[in-house]
Amino acid sequence: GDDPRVHDIKTKIRVIPNFPKPGETLLPVSIYNLLAHICSLCFDDVTAELSGSTESFVLLGIEARGFIFGPPIALAIGAKFVPLRKPRKLPGEVISEEYVLEYGRDCLEMHVGAVEPGERALVVDDLVATGGTLCAAMNLLERAGAEVVECACVIELPDLKGRERLKGKPLYILVEAH
Ligand code: PRP
Repeated sequence: GDDPRVHDIKTKIRVIPNFPKPGETLLPVSIYNLLAHICSLCFDDVTAELSGSTESFVLLGIEARGFIFGPPIALAIGAKFVPLRKPRKLPGEVISEEYVLEYGRDCLEMHVGAVEPGERALVVDDLVATGGTLCAAMNLLERAGAEVVECACVIELPDLKGRERLKGKPLYILVEAH
């Protein structure tokens, strides 16, 4: 009853009555505000540091879970959010980077013009394993002429040495998993 965390979480849950039908409440809550709150907690020291900067940033979120963790950071620091998507998802002209995963190949794409030459970029995802995904994201940004300032993920699997593929750029992580 008196747990302050419960009180805090309750303020982030939106109750939506009469959904999906008047008089019925089958899906009464929206947890998206709560998710955004939890995501911003994961990176609150990154956002505190960057929001004090006079520079502006563009924030790249990697499909799929970078789309959950990225936007709250972008909002907090006033950065433009740009999605890096898997193949054939973006409707406009794209540049693409293929990369190797533990279980095959994949590809990331970015809209041409989404990032301006000289823009300072932050790359956000949930997890760095082999580092192949972040490396492909950094290659796309380099090709667009942007300067990658930092990558930020919630989890690192340090045994896979993904950090070594990040071109010497800083990697912020919250937890290591073995
Ligand atoms: C996972 C994870 C990272 C990537 C990390 O995504 O969310 O994006 O793998 O692996 P790496 O460091 O070895 O490149 P996944 O490729 O499973 O794609 P999804 O998010 O679309 O499910």
